[in-house]
Amino acid sequence: MSVPLLDLKRQYEMIRDEVEREVLAVLRSGYYILGPNVKAFEAEAADFTGAKFAVGVNSGTDALRIALRAFGVGEGDEVITTAFSYFATCEIIDDVGATPVFADIEPKTFNIDAEDIRRKITPKTKAIIPVHIFGQMCDMGAVMAIAEEHGLAVIEDACQAIGAACPSGKAGSVGHAGAFSFFPSKNLGAVGDGGLITTNSQEVRDFAVSMRMHGTRNDRYRHETFGYNTRLDEIQAAVLKVKLRHLDDFNDKRRANAERYRLAFAGAGGIEPAHELEGYRHTYHQYTVRIEDGKRDDTLKHLQEKAIGCAVYYMVPLHRQPAYSGRYDELSLPETERACNEVLSLPIFPELTCDEQSAVIEAVQEGLTG
Ligand SMILES: Cc1ncc(COP(=O)(O)O)c(C=O)c1O
Repeated sequence: MSVPLLDLKRQYEMIRDEVEREVLAVLRSGYYILGPNVKAFEAEAADFTGAKFAVGVNSGTDALRIALRAFGVGEGDEVITTAFSYFATCEIIDDVGATPVFADIEPKTFNIDAEDIRRKITPKTKAIIPVHIFGQMCDMGAVMAIAEEHGLAVIEDACQAIGAACPSGKAGSVGHAGAFSFFPSKNLGAVGDGGLITTNSQEVRDFAVSMRMHGTRNDRYRHETFGYNTRLDEIQAAVLKVKLRHLDDFNDKRRANAERYRLAFAGAGGIEPAHELEGYRHTYHQYTVRIEDGKRDDTLKHLQEKAIGCAVYYMVPLHRQPAYSGRYDELSLPETERACNEVLSLPIFPELTCDEQSAVIEAVQEGLTG
């Protein structure tokens, strides 16, 4: 039996009538940009995340970029983040003219190690970007305490973690701003690109609203600052509004699948199941195990041969990306580098069937013993 890593068509079929009704209404309305759907979605997303404000933009990358600029991060500043993430996390730091400073990760959660953040602070540090990797939040209590002590802005990269929670609150509501991605494969996926900035600050919200449409204007014709064109469009907002109402259910299904994996892999040698920390709500954007003893690549190959969808997030840490060639040669992040050699992500999407999951488990077990 072949099993996909993700099958977006299954989810679409389940909510097709609702989505098509809403999208058709947009098409017929003639109102395509920053209209009633964006407004309604922003209100519902703010409510869902527990943040005071939410501003729709056209990607998670732009949400991060605008959030960094909202705190005046630029030339000469340092931003501490993780090297175990998607490239967008560090790309936008360079894009605003600042320098990424990478802290190592905690081995259990793959999330940034708060103690290493502390060690990496210099007089140039302006902000921290904790990434809630794979759908589990960072230890935001610890991150916020460090930030407060040193007067730093905290921008949550919650691109993979909508609906996740930690003892300090829900993803996107604890830091000074949060960034979400609605790339189609995300737990809340659009039918194209989309993103969201969340914040409890009126000032940050107003900055984001102006930035997504060419900066501040005195009136229709006089521009005072430079911004971007990065709006969430009405069709995406209409789809997201429908899907947001199902999100808790989708995330619960991912959690149930994760529990089945946990039970199947508990006690098996050579594999470490994903961990959910006590008091946290993991939303399993990815279900990522560790395969130890140098057997990850063989297991990956075995799964591929059996047509079982799987992927390595992340094979190359950010400080080893060719775009930085030479810049971080001296930097060693032992836990990040170990994770890159051991991780393997397995199918976890909400519509995965029990039979498919059994096939995945069986193939992983064969890979480990083979
Ligand atoms: C951790 C992380 N940060 C940032 C992004 C960028 O989001 P987008 O693809 O919507 O620009 C992504 C998504 O791919 C992500 O996974």
